[in-house]
Amino acid sequence: MELTPVIKAATDLWSSLSATPKHAGHRLPPMLPGGVPVLGHALEMRKDPIALIQRGRDMFGDIFSMRLPGRPTVVMTGHRAQEKYFRWRDKDVDQREVYRFTVPVFGKGIAYDAEPEIMREQLGFFHAALRESRLRTYADGFIQEAEEYFGKWGDEGVVNMIEVGNELTIYTSSRSLLGEGFRKHLSGEFAHLYHDLEAGMNTLSLFAPNFPSPSHIRRDQARVKLGEMIGGIVEQRRRDGSDSEDFMQTLLEATYKDGRELTAAEITGLLLTIMFAGHHTSGVTLAWTGVNIAKHPHIAADLRAEQERVLGDRKDVGLDDLRAMNVLEWTVKEVLRMYPPLIMLMRKALRDLEFGGYDIPAGTMMMASPSVGHRIPSIFADPHRFDPYRFGPGREEDKRSPYGHIAFGAGRHRCMGIIFAQLQLRALWSHLLRNFDFELVDPPASYVVDYSNIIAGPQPPCRLRYRRRR
Ligand code: HEM
Repeated sequence: MELTPVIKAATDLWSSLSATPKHAGHRLPPMLPGGVPVLGHALEMRKDPIALIQRGRDMFGDIFSMRLPGRPTVVMTGHRAQEKYFRWRDKDVDQREVYRFTVPVFGKGIAYDAEPEIMREQLGFFHAALRESRLRTYADGFIQEAEEYFGKWGDEGVVNMIEVGNELTIYTSSRSLLGEGFRKHLSGEFAHLYHDLEAGMNTLSLFAPNFPSPSHIRRDQARVKLGEMIGGIVEQRRRDGSDSEDFMQTLLEATYKDGRELTAAEITGLLLTIMFAGHHTSGVTLAWTGVNIAKHPHIAADLRAEQERVLGDRKDVGLDDLRAMNVLEWTVKEVLRMYPPLIMLMRKALRDLEFGGYDIPAGTMMMASPSVGHRIPSIFADPHRFDPYRFGPGREEDKRSPYGHIAFGAGRHRCMGIIFAQLQLRALWSHLLRNFDFELVDPPASYVVDYSNIIAGPQPPCRLRYRRRR
């Protein structure tokens, strides 16, 4: 068959689709030029999603469309657009289809696979687990884990900070969420299975979560084994009774509004959901914090001075100390501004919506982007500069709008683990700052973002050299 006319027809069709779309009486957001037939902008997206979104923003401002496989996607960045985006209600926009890729991991009937009312109740259980009274226990756990983990480091060495972040946050999360008993017996097998589970959520899963790729097959096998492992503990704790202060206990005691207790499968699914939400996100932030402390010695010096100011000679760090570490708080916030682990937050329009004079018809996919939104100069001054003091007294750039710093999302679905994550990162870095000096091993320009994972972290190997302080 002569292919040229086919290619030409496809290209013509693509060009017509790529023009500013008009939809029976609708004025649709302008379409980003470029892209290829069928796949649209997907290849550019895969290579560098942030450059792609920035290109759209530079051309059209707060709202534009691009074409991803299947359908056009509307991108909204900028202060006003982000406010609008995060204020839409659950009956206006939906997350379920977007997060469909989580179903093989979280399980059937859990979170985004549950009916909206049940999902709301399940999210309510998370609130109970992350409430203020639990934080003191969690903070003690973070500090003990840091002492045990870093106590095993030598006087000097080179570490891959991504591995450190992921390993350590598995210990801290499993201790606070699955329980101290579980953490004590945390086996290599659990870590291995959990790794397979996470690795089975990749860019392919976004489009085809059930495609039988090797990583998906390993993910499904790991899910079965983890289900048995955690399910066994759930059954045992239900039989023996326990008064532990962990998330598993919250779920064991919880009931739905109709009085029904959670099944072992539901408890297992919700435990894996919250583990997943908080693990890799915190792990990569721990790593980026290290890179930035090593890159900016004047910030490292201020952070150490703060440790001395807050703790003096004391070794017993507690929740109130962590809360008093403001420079560390601003540093982590700045790391999350420049390197947000979730670079795109997606929704689907459930009804016809409108922004900035444009129509967004029901069924359209939409996204906000923390990575691009955080680099807009009208929201954050000199946005490419690492400057934790932008959050300090007199400047407080994050207070200009609740929809400016969106590393934890915003509005009704803002991250529930925000305090947990911040305390965890402060506890681990408080320990590291007091005990080690860090420097980069590779040229500074080689510490760049790896966009190949759903959760964006530093590109491996992300090596830092540490030296124990005397
Ligand atoms: C640095 C670490 C973290 C980052 C950057 C982060 C980021 C986010 C973001 C951006 C969202 C909103 C997603 C959206 O709008 O589509 C979110 C939601 C959520 N996060 Fe986190 N997260 C972190 C840690 C945690 C931790 C430690 C937990 C639990 C222990 C957690 C639990 C949740 C839950 C349950 C939701 C869903 C909230 C809802 O839909 O109402 N996260 N997170």
